[in-house]
Formats: sequence, structure tokens, C-alpha cells
Amino acid sequence: MNRVYIFDTTLRDGEQSPGCSMTMPEKLEVAAKLVDLGVDVLEAGFPIASEGDFEAVRAVSRQFPWVQVAALARACTGDVQRAAEALERAKRPRIHTFIATSDIHLKHKLRRSREQMLDDAIAAVTLARNYTDDVEFSAEDATRTDIDFLQKVCQAVVEAGARTVNLPDTVGYSVPEEYGALIGRMVKALGDRATVSVHCHDDLGLAVANSLAAIKAGARQIECTINGIGERAGNAALEEVVMAMKVRHDQLPFETKIQTEKLFSASQTLTKFICFGPQPNKAIVGDNAFAHEAGIHQDGYLKEKSTYEIMSPASVGVPESRLVLGKHSGRHALSKRAEDLGFKLSREELDQVYRQFTALADNKKGLRNDEISALIQTVVQGKAVHETVAH
Ligand code: KIV
Ligand code: ZN
Repeated sequence: MNRVYIFDTTLRDGEQSPGCSMTMPEKLEVAAKLVDLGVDVLEAGFPIASEGDFEAVRAVSRQFPWVQVAALARACTGDVQRAAEALERAKRPRIHTFIATSDIHLKHKLRRSREQMLDDAIAAVTLARNYTDDVEFSAEDATRTDIDFLQKVCQAVVEAGARTVNLPDTVGYSVPEEYGALIGRMVKALGDRATVSVHCHDDLGLAVANSLAAIKAGARQIECTINGIGERAGNAALEEVVMAMKVRHDQLPFETKIQTEKLFSASQTLTKFICFGPQPNKAIVGDNAFAHEAGIHQDGYLKEKSTYEIMSPASVGVPESRLVLGKHSGRHALSKRAEDLGFKLSREELDQVYRQFTALADNKKGLRNDEISALIQTVVQGKAVHETVAH
């Protein structure tokens, strides 16, 4: 009842965004990390879109036969056939077919009526079911679709054989209560005939909040990516949705199969292959996610870690927390760093070092260990600070 399936789309939605394209060996290395992490479904590409995507789906499904591998296809014959071909030797193939359901997309992009679109959706699902029992249907731009019509589409595709119905917030427009209500309605309408899935984009910075609201409303699959990469502002970050459910299990009593101690390593591997890493203040995997600079925080942290850390770095695979020594740092952290660097300072020496340290730190973004060591040696030996430390 409370098991949430993690559908990773780093290699599809993530890879198709600017600066994120990867070569085949890179995709396979990321796929290996995702498999090791324990994702339930791995979307490896959009086979009709390029030869590279076709080959990626093929290679991933052959290399990891025990994993459910998904291939994306628009709701048309050629796409579904190409996806099926790419998944030909897969042991657990999923065809993920989609079509836009909102009037805005129907009118301006597809130039089709609601009825025509519905026929295409049903035909694509029916065709996909000829190749595999595991068919997912996505109603692109679901959150801007007329809700009664959306329900009609969902019921029709389930009738045609879709086992998973995904309701993407394609343009990152929804807000949590609204999205939760939409999902709740579809969960009720579909009952146990299909798993309801969510796929949220982060245009308003709400992808994770929306995904979690959806889970509370009964969805049981989250589509997400490592580091939150994906079209425009990205998708819901896998590491964030998973850790929210783990750390706030009291509020979000759901289980995933993700081995959270492997999150940081997966993030690092992806970063190696794409043009950008997570921003420093990115939750869970950013450089500063476990760094403390303010004196009050450092003091609290040194007395008891839980004062300023709601999860341990080890729980997500980050090697250790960092105390950054900068102009906001306090005596307690400086004394701990001196100790770590092998100095035993008297109270008077520490006071002296601290005075010099704050004067220096005022003009810098932070002091490195070698600068701190030099400062301590200088003070202890009674030399002028600026001779040895300032450069
Ligand atoms: O954002 C979206 O709607 C998608 C679908 C293809 C699932 O990526
Ligand atoms: Zn998307």
C-alpha cells in the first residue's frame, strides 16, 4: 500500500535537456549507478528521436536484464514500433507512450480535436500491448487539461490496457494542493486497475513538493532525475523526493527501494558526464548541503550534530560534514580545526589566533587549511600575520 516506485528518467528527460547529452559508455555508467541505487524503472531513451537513444535503450536493457527498462514513444504507430524494437531483447520492457491532452497543446501543437487525440491514445496503447503487458500512458500537460476530459482519457487508456497512467505537470505550473486534488480524483476514478504516476517539472521550484503532494493523494510512482536535471528548470530531483520520504517518514509514511547511501555517488557520476553539477546550495548533494559556516551553527553542531543537521551525511553517501572557516565562524570551530590540524593551543593562543583570523577572514570568502595552519604557526611563533599568510 505504501510502496512508492521510483521511475528514473535521467537518461531520457534529463539527457534531452541542454548540456546533458551523453555518449553510450557514459549512459551505461550512469545506468549502472541507477541500477545499483535501486530505481524501479529506468527510462533509457526515446528510440524514435535518435539512433543514440535507440541504441541506449537496447544496450541498457541488455546489460541490466533484471531491471524494468522503459522506452518513450509518442502515441503513433512508428514511435511505438521503434520503442518495441529497441526493447526487443529486454526481459522487463515497458513502453511509455504519451500524447498531449490539454486544449492549448491540441489547438496549437497537435492541431487535433479531443476526439482525434483520444483515438490516437487508445490506438497507441492497444498497439503497445501487442509487444508487452507493461504499458504506461502519459497525458502530457495533464495539469492544464480540462479535468473531466482528463478523467475520460485516463479511463479509456486503462480500458485499452495501460497499467500505469502518468499525469505530468509538463510545464511546472501546478501547486501542491491543486496537484494533490487532481491526482486524488484520478486515483479514485481508476481504483486498482492502474498505478497513478507523477512527473513534475520545476519551473516554479515546486516539482518535489508537487510530487510529494501527489503521493499523499494516492499516486504510487514518481518520475524523477538525479540532480533534478531535465527540460528547462528540470524534473523533481530523485534524491530530494526519496530523502523527504525517509527523513519525514512521520509525515510521508512511504517506502522506496532506493539505497540512499548511494545517492551522492550517483550524483557525482552524472556530474562527471554533463556540463554542470548541482548548485552549491542544492539539497542533499550540493557542496554546501552539509557545510556550516556561521559561528552559532558551528558551535551547536560541535556540541550535538542534530542541532543543525536533520540527516547525517553518511545517510546519503556524503563523506563528511564540513565546517567552513570564514568571517561568520566562531572560536569553537576554530579551536576544533586547530586540533584537527594537529595544534594544541592554550586559551590565550586561541584568543590571539581568533583575533587575527577574524581580521583576515573579513576580506576573504573562507580560509583554507593551509592558511589556517600558517596563521597558527605565525601567531604561536610571534610573527606578523601578514608576512606568512596573506598572499
Ligand atoms: O514532461 C512531460 O510531460 C514528459 C512526458 C513525455 C512524460 O516528459
Ligand atoms: Zn518531462
